[in-house]
Amino acid sequence: MKEFDLIVIGGGPGGYVAAIRAAQLGLQTALIEKETGLGGTCLRVGCIPSKALLEASEKYHETKSELHAFGINATAELDLAAMLARKENIVADMTKGIDGLMAKNKIQRFLGHGRLAGPNKVAVQGAESSELTAKSIILATGSVAAGLPGIEFDGDRIGSSTEALCYPEVPKRLVVIGAGVIGLELGSVWLRLGAQVTVFEYMDHILPGMDLEVSKLAQRIFKKQGLKFNLGAKVTGAKADRNTCTVEVEGMQATQCDRVLVAVGRRPNTQDLGLDTLNIATDKAGCIEVDDRLATAAPGVFAIGDAVRGPMLAHKAEEEGIACVERIATGYGHLNYDAIPAIVYTHPEIASVGKTEEELKDAGIGYRKGKFPFSANARARCLGPAEGFVKILAHAQTDRVLGVHIIGPRAGDLIAEAAVAIEYGASSEDIARACHAHPTLAEVIKEAALAVE
Ligand code: FAD
Ligand code: NAI
Repeated sequence: MKEFDLIVIGGGPGGYVAAIRAAQLGLQTALIEKETGLGGTCLRVGCIPSKALLEASEKYHETKSELHAFGINATAELDLAAMLARKENIVADMTKGIDGLMAKNKIQRFLGHGRLAGPNKVAVQGAESSELTAKSIILATGSVAAGLPGIEFDGDRIGSSTEALCYPEVPKRLVVIGAGVIGLELGSVWLRLGAQVTVFEYMDHILPGMDLEVSKLAQRIFKKQGLKFNLGAKVTGAKADRNTCTVEVEGMQATQCDRVLVAVGRRPNTQDLGLDTLNIATDKAGCIEVDDRLATAAPGVFAIGDAVRGPMLAHKAEEEGIACVERIATGYGHLNYDAIPAIVYTHPEIASVGKTEEELKDAGIGYRKGKFPFSANARARCLGPAEGFVKILAHAQTDRVLGVHIIGPRAGDLIAEAAVAIEYGASSEDIARACHAHPTLAEVIKEAALAVE
């Protein structure tokens, strides 16, 4: 029986970051991961490979169709195998980086499936099985792609984002089920590379949960780019017959295509984790139930990241990992769920932090709104199509910034200023009075803040 101060199950951004922070704070730490490579969904089959393909496909599209507007005549030829290999190399390099961090921080790595085996006890089942004990245990087992009744993933033509990150050829016709983040990001990738992409979405608008004004503009822009949307469409089945797939949608004619990407959300991964052993409950969505200290009902057992409630985002998992470990080691940890940004890495990018207009209305909170378009910003005009806007929502009485929503060039980088503003409790006047360099895209944030007045 090996003894530690902390055992972390799951080596994704929640788990490995928690393990590093624990080691920095002097805890003897073990990290259990069942896959050979650390980094979790995010590094292996999520954030990083998808962003590698988004960048590469955007460059291809830009060379083929946009550069002439800059006075450059160029032709582009796609080498899909090289594009996929570049993505794999980025993932491999980053994976080595995490291995280096594990060694540097003297974290003991166990390769295998971790399962709660009693109070303070975890069993690891792998090539070598072992039993570990620790005062504290963090469950960071992440999530897996959700399925739909009537659709069976065949690991090839009908699959999740994992398959869509490595199609060996550009599908002629791709059907995407779900106009959420994955559907739009990976739908954009294959559209830019030449596929006809048809999206079926259950709701009457895309990106449910995002600010409605942003989602409406996004829909118009993506439609112009060539994504074909069918909204209010309930997919009831899909099957593959050799190279052709048929997708059934309630009240519509069946659609034929080469590949189907099912992107209807993800569900927490708690399979065979031994939760019952310690009477740890899950909620209706399958999330491990935790209190606001991320503690489960079992003494000394905590859970973080995609496995618990809240947005399924890598940086949310990381922040929870750090806060959880700091509470274990020092009694205090900080996490502000109101200041967690969300980004959709399409073109243009979409980013938000804090409350949407719809959420403020529902909660009966009075607000004032400032909005400014990128088309009036010189830097945006120099960069290319200056579509989109920044919208700032501030409290009607106190002027405190409650939400910032951006659709436009490099929105994903711009949102950092808004997240810091919300974290520090800034007012829209604070943002408006801060000097923003000229000519930069960030001036659009300043102008939106000025427009709140
Ligand atoms: P995970 O990353 O899922 O890691 C959990 C780990 O635990 C896995 O490695 C798993 O193998 C391991 N594990 C599970 N059970 C056990 C067990 N019993 N024993 C041992 N090991 C176990 N988020 C962003 O913020 N930005 C993005 O751009 C972004 N892009 C995405 C793109 C795609 C296509 C997908 C699918 C997701 C994306 N996400 C993105 C979401 C992000 O990947 C997750 O929110 C994040 O990985 C969650 O981190 P985690 O540590 O909670 O879980
Ligand atoms: P999602 O929750 O973003 O979108 C799922 C979509 O599918 C919704 O619009 C939903 O209405 C629709 N849907 C559900 N059932 C349907 C049906 N039967 N027919 C048609 N449409 C249906 O989930 P997604 O895109 O799968 O992403 C999963 C998670 O991964 C997200 O929660 C997100 O946080 C994370 N992620 C984050 C990224 C980022 O930060 N850039 C990128 C990719 C994923």
